[in-house]
Amino acid sequence: MTDRRPAAVIILAAGEGKRMHSSTPKVLHAVAGRSLIGHVLEAASAVDPVHVVVVVGHGRDRVLAHVEEIAPWADTVVQEEQRGTGHAVRIAMSALVSEHALPSGPVIVLSGDTPLLTGDTVEALVEAHHSSGAAATLLSAVLADPSGYGRVVRDAHGSVAAIVEHRDADEATRLIDEINAGMYVFDSEDLLPALERIGTNNDQGEEYLTDVIGILRAQSQPVAALLVPDSHEILGVNDRVQLAEAAALMRDRINDRWMRAGVSMLDPSSTWIDVDVDLEADVTLLPQTSLLGPTSVGSMARVGPGTTLTSCEVGEGAVVIHTWANLAVIGPRASVGPFSYLRPGARIGEEAKVGAFVEMKNAELGDGAKVPHLSYVGDAEIGAGANIGAATIFVNYDGQEKHRAVVGRHARVGSDTMIVAPVTIGDGAYTAAGSVVTEDVPPGAMAVGRARQRNIPGWVERKRPGTASAQAAAEHESAPTETTQESKETP
Ligand code: UD1
Ligand code: MG
Repeated sequence: MTDRRPAAVIILAAGEGKRMHSSTPKVLHAVAGRSLIGHVLEAASAVDPVHVVVVVGHGRDRVLAHVEEIAPWADTVVQEEQRGTGHAVRIAMSALVSEHALPSGPVIVLSGDTPLLTGDTVEALVEAHHSSGAAATLLSAVLADPSGYGRVVRDAHGSVAAIVEHRDADEATRLIDEINAGMYVFDSEDLLPALERIGTNNDQGEEYLTDVIGILRAQSQPVAALLVPDSHEILGVNDRVQLAEAAALMRDRINDRWMRAGVSMLDPSSTWIDVDVDLEADVTLLPQTSLLGPTSVGSMARVGPGTTLTSCEVGEGAVVIHTWANLAVIGPRASVGPFSYLRPGARIGEEAKVGAFVEMKNAELGDGAKVPHLSYVGDAEIGAGANIGAATIFVNYDGQEKHRAVVGRHARVGSDTMIVAPVTIGDGAYTAAGSVVTEDVPPGAMAVGRARQRNIPGWVERKRPGTASAQAAAEHESAPTETTQESKETP
């Protein structure tokens, strides 16, 4: 009896993926924020294999770098020429034997382009292999349209006799609707010699891994098959249509899980949640919302409609409407949007407000502080309870360098203030509307930094005679008298 712990999982990922028409290697395309190969590595880890070997070929530099980044524990082996799935497994096995003196236990073979495969199914396949005592166990599926796949040919007793590739199959074999999913468990002691005996006598002149099945049967070794209950799991991505299909299936799977965990979604079909997102119960997601990267959302928060959050943290009870945000932190019960743009380093305090057409970058908005309308806030620190008037701009860039501005607690910045950094507006200070603030404002002071208004009476009558404006002015009962803003209190 061999060890039950799988000795290795071999993931085949050397193919070119021609039908993707892409400069990116196929297995690096992503579904739900994780590469295709990343999903397969995740499913493989469910059975805790001693070794994981990824076979790379096309685009190897990028695939190797990616595997090193997301799964540094995995081994990689380069298949210089893609001479078939049997050849790929053969070189992976020889690498395992020479580098690790292959421990005993089953060897699992998966494809790098099947992102919907679950860890549960890999576990079930290993379990089926142990309970049947077969030399090989393959995953099969019954498909309404089996064309293109290898067919599972069974003998008179219903046992698996062979796998015949579609292109090598006769008409009767092509009628079989049970297909080979391309995922297997083998006993390594049986796999090694069988691989040596694979030929290339087929339509493609390649070494087919599937020939191992017939070879084992010819030696009277039993082969078992596990029928996958949900055939979506074996969907291989070969082109962009299948990539979109896989993404939609993954979206539904992820959304179902969150809804069952207490998240409300008004329109699950337009709600896209990456695998690394974390949501608390009682979150509500409105239509056309994407939560990407490691985004988290606290209880009672409402996000959407029309919102994309990438790597953001949203506190409990916050409301985020029509917003695009990346690497931002939104505090508990804060309000953001509609039409807000939060860039990296935006940190919104508790119960703070960021309103319409406000852009923030590398800036902290204190608890209860407000930037309600039409502002740019870059490289700034705004104290708790401060109010930033409409159309205020934090002028952080002198054309060469970025500078930081500080606005104190409970300060009142008048509308259309230009805060020219580096500058500090003190706690409780005010600025007059339309001011250009270039010097520090002491706490409690009012800063007025703008030209005084002057009215020129009768200007329109003299300079724009005969216009609708002149007509309107003439019709007004009392002609304007000269005033200055002195009579008016600032701001
Ligand atoms: C394979 C199976 C077929 C099964 C189907 C399921 C064989 C001969 N046939 O066919 O029975 O129904 O998968 O999807 O195995 N690869 C390498 N190196 C190679 C060749 C392939 O790494 O030299 C990788 C590919 O990148 C891919 C996987 O192996 O990830 C499968 O290869 P592919 O050419 O797609 O095999 P199919 O013709 O689909
Ligand atoms: Mg394929």
